[in-house]
Amino acid sequence: MQYRNHTLYSEEVPLADIARREGTPCYIYSRAGILERYQAYDRAFGETPHKVCYAVKANSNLAILKLLAEAGAGFDIVSGGELFRVLKAGADPGAVIFSGVGKSEKEIEYALEHKIKGFNCESVHELFLLNSLAARWKVRPKVALRVNPDVDASTHPYISTGLRKHKFGIDIEEAESIYGQASAYPNLELEGVSCHIGSQIVDIEPMLEVFDKMVALVERLRGRGLPIRTLDLGGGLGVAYKPGDKAVSIPEFIHAMCGKAGGRGLEILIEPGRSIVAEAGVLLTRVLYRKTNGEREFVIVDAAMNDLIRPALYHSHHEIIPLRENQSGTITADVVGPVCESGDFLARGRDMANVMPGDLLAVCTAGAYGFVAASNYNARPRPPEILIEGDSYRVIRERETYEDLIRGES
Ligand code: LLP
Repeated sequence: MQYRNHTLYSEEVPLADIARREGTPCYIYSRAGILERYQAYDRAFGETPHKVCYAVKANSNLAILKLLAEAGAGFDIVSGGELFRVLKAGADPGAVIFSGVGKSEKEIEYALEHKIKGFNCESVHELFLLNSLAARWKVRPKVALRVNPDVDASTHPYISTGLRKHKFGIDIEEAESIYGQASAYPNLELEGVSCHIGSQIVDIEPMLEVFDKMVALVERLRGRGLPIRTLDLGGGLGVAYKPGDKAVSIPEFIHAMCGKAGGRGLEILIEPGRSIVAEAGVLLTRVLYRKTNGEREFVIVDAAMNDLIRPALYHSHHEIIPLRENQSGTITADVVGPVCESGDFLARGRDMANVMPGDLLAVCTAGAYGFVAASNYNARPRPPEILIEGDSYRVIRERETYEDLIRGES
């Protein structure tokens, strides 16, 4: 995004034009922005055998899945619903891996029926169930054990997953014995190990520690005669939410990964979500009112915590900038929505442009974990999603109507 003539553009389209035609709030994504980041991952691997399996949870709009599938991406899913979306988008199920700590019997069967690339299993009970369902379906799925490497990702506690105290993965100390046990299951093709230590990781050190631990595990398992062919190093690469934020570049991250894990006859899988879509998306919103309560200044906008929950849930920072660069000074304000909760804010105590009712704002870096986590709380229809392609755009999900709100109710 950039200002041209004081007007904010994404690719070749002035965002205010979209806001006027399609209304606010609305999510806007840049096709070029998404592809660029996917390709940065893919290219950085060079000759190392790999598959970039986009984590569908970050943004699961069909048009985005289709875009990535056509670019050659695989997919990392965590539910039957995500598999349904990926299939609807026309992607190859043979490039889908199924992660997640609590796959249901129905979800596993759905994935077996479509012959996905593999399952990342997280418990002994899951391995047992998968083996028996595979027998029923007369298939032999490929399986990796997701291990918990006990490394601190130093990120927000809600999105940190790689420590023993977290529910995720199989303790790395137990991985060998569970692998040994599982290799007796006749209907599973045990071929890999996987991990994922958290999200929005901006420090490469814990990642390097994980790569080392995982490579050492592969070698120990191979030493026991187990034919380990895939190493899935998860997602988690963070992005800069504000100017000056620390972030590791995609090529730097992948080169470090290949340096540690490449050249060992392994296919390296990764599951990035945020780092592909976050920076390619914004949430547009319009200022409804301004007011002060005592010392506190409020900018009341038409987007709320139901549209973008990240600030309320993680106190995360999203830059908020006007679509029309304004010269009328700055204010320090809380940017809040119409939802009836004091936790409904997009920013608190923020130094920002001195905006007035009617002005349009972009809430930046909202392409990941934005719309996917939107809800109908306060009976608010969810916003539309729009994809910019060069000098044009298309609505890739319509704004919900009041009728949509009551669908299925009686
Ligand atoms: N693989 C697995 C198994 C995961 O659990 C996740 C994210 C990813 C891959 C993708 O991670 P990424 O590359 O996007 O960091 N709602 C939170 C983020 C939750 C992440 C959950 N797992 C947020 O808004 O920050």
